[in-house]
Amino acid sequence: MFKDHGCNVYLAAEIKKHVKIPVATIGGLNDPAQMEEIIASGKADIVYMARALLAAPFLPNKVMSNRGEEIVRCLRCFTCMAERAATATRRCTVNPLIGREMEGDTIYPAPEKKKVLVAGGGPGGLYAAYTAARRGHQVILCEKDGELGGILKSEQALPFKQEMYQLTGTYANLARKAGVEIRLNTAVTPELVEAVAPDALIIAVGSAPLVPPIPGLDGDNVVIVNNYYKEKDKVTDDVVVFGGGLAGCECAIHLGQEGKRVHLVEMRATLAPDANVRHRPLLLKEIEKFVTVHTGYKGLEVRPDGILCENQAGEQVLVPGTSVICALGQRSRTADVEALRGTAPFVRIIGDAAKVSTITNAVYWGYHAALDIGTGI
Ligand SMILES: Cc1cc2nc3c(=O)[nH]c(=O)nc-3n(C[C@H](O)[C@H](O)[C@H](O)COP(=O)(O)OP(=O)(O)OC[C@H]3O[C@@H](n4cnc5c(N)ncnc54)[C@H](O)[C@@H]3O)c2cc1C
Ligand SMILES: Cc1cc2nc3c(=O)[nH]c(=O)nc-3n(C[C@H](O)[C@H](O)[C@H](O)COP(=O)(O)O)c2cc1C
Ligand code: SF4
Repeated sequence: MFKDHGCNVYLAAEIKKHVKIPVATIGGLNDPAQMEEIIASGKADIVYMARALLAAPFLPNKVMSNRGEEIVRCLRCFTCMAERAATATRRCTVNPLIGREMEGDTIYPAPEKKKVLVAGGGPGGLYAAYTAARRGHQVILCEKDGELGGILKSEQALPFKQEMYQLTGTYANLARKAGVEIRLNTAVTPELVEAVAPDALIIAVGSAPLVPPIPGLDGDNVVIVNNYYKEKDKVTDDVVVFGGGLAGCECAIHLGQEGKRVHLVEMRATLAPDANVRHRPLLLKEIEKFVTVHTGYKGLEVRPDGILCENQAGEQVLVPGTSVICALGQRSRTADVEALRGTAPFVRIIGDAAKVSTITNAVYWGYHAALDIGTGI
């Protein structure tokens, strides 16, 4: 994720000058236009893809038939590699069919067509809606915001996570093409469910940022990590990232790459325990390059000139910075879930709304919830 797409192309181009046989290149290639340019410019004779074909096994066919907008791009998240280490099998965040090829890759039409309402247009809701529509159900997806994507909207600010941002657009294209009706600026409430009267309701309302009652955390110098993409201009050149999970670490790396002086405060002894085992070592290498880390530091108060912390020796230390990024985690929208639970004959709660987790789980739970509709489960 932290390397350029096509990071090995320059090697192929150099080797080509010295040999008379075809030369191939591989590494982070998932954009058909870039692959075309590599071949057309003669830098390599062949382009290979590994992960891009887990994410989109029919990528070449889609290019050949001008259906590029249906290609789900590999996120370079390394969930596939982490799964291999854990279970010696395959898994792909954006494609739940990977690793289950023996079960077949056909989405069969449901025996009975149902009216399905999906609450929430994050990755989980979008994939659930897409799958349900592929099974022939009538699907309405409502998103309370004016834009789809949920948390993935925040990824647009981080160049190395652009594919996570693009994922929303691709899933939305696939869902619309499969027949899903998408309603923006429409919150799903018990009243709306009553009016729509669906046979099945998939609750994919996600999670909200956790902002504990720490003095100063509501100050003007604080930006919630999820909102960084909207409030970038507020962030000064001296930043403290408060929270060293995956989200905080990736934001800290990006700010460091932009040339800012970045400190990171984390109460635990380790960073990013929520990153997968393949991504985490690469993440930590980037952290080393760009970020001054303070683990074992408990934030007590956010001040205009930094975060007052208590270190492991019990001393109070000011970690300096004129801006603070709050990355202290997420909390499921439980009140919304509880209000909607039981409002339709079939209800499933998926993704962060069920348990704060990952894109992988949101997509997988959405997929399986959609498969269950109309099966009597
Ligand atoms: C900053 C950050 C970075 C992350 N990075 C990664 C990563 O690199 N890899 C990874 O796997 N995971 C990552 N995660 C976690 C991942 O983003 C979430 O697990 C995932 O987005 C959950 O998807 P979801 O569809 O369940 O919910 P969400 O993405 O939260 O989407 C829920 C949607 O529901 C809408 N909604 C809420 N209430 C209603 C309602 N009543 N009616 C209609 N719509 C409603 C919301 O507006 C929102 O659009 C990150 C999380 C954060 C905060
Ligand atoms: C799940 C998975 C398993 C892999 N297994 C092997 C392997 O056994 N041997 C190997 O040389 N490369 C292996 N690779 C590396 C790929 O062949 C490829 O070189 C690498 O993923 C970079 O290409 P990409 O960016 O197109 O994925 C594996 C990659 C993935 C994603
Ligand atoms: S799991 Fe992630 S890195 Fe692996 S193929 Fe799928 S999207 Fe790409």
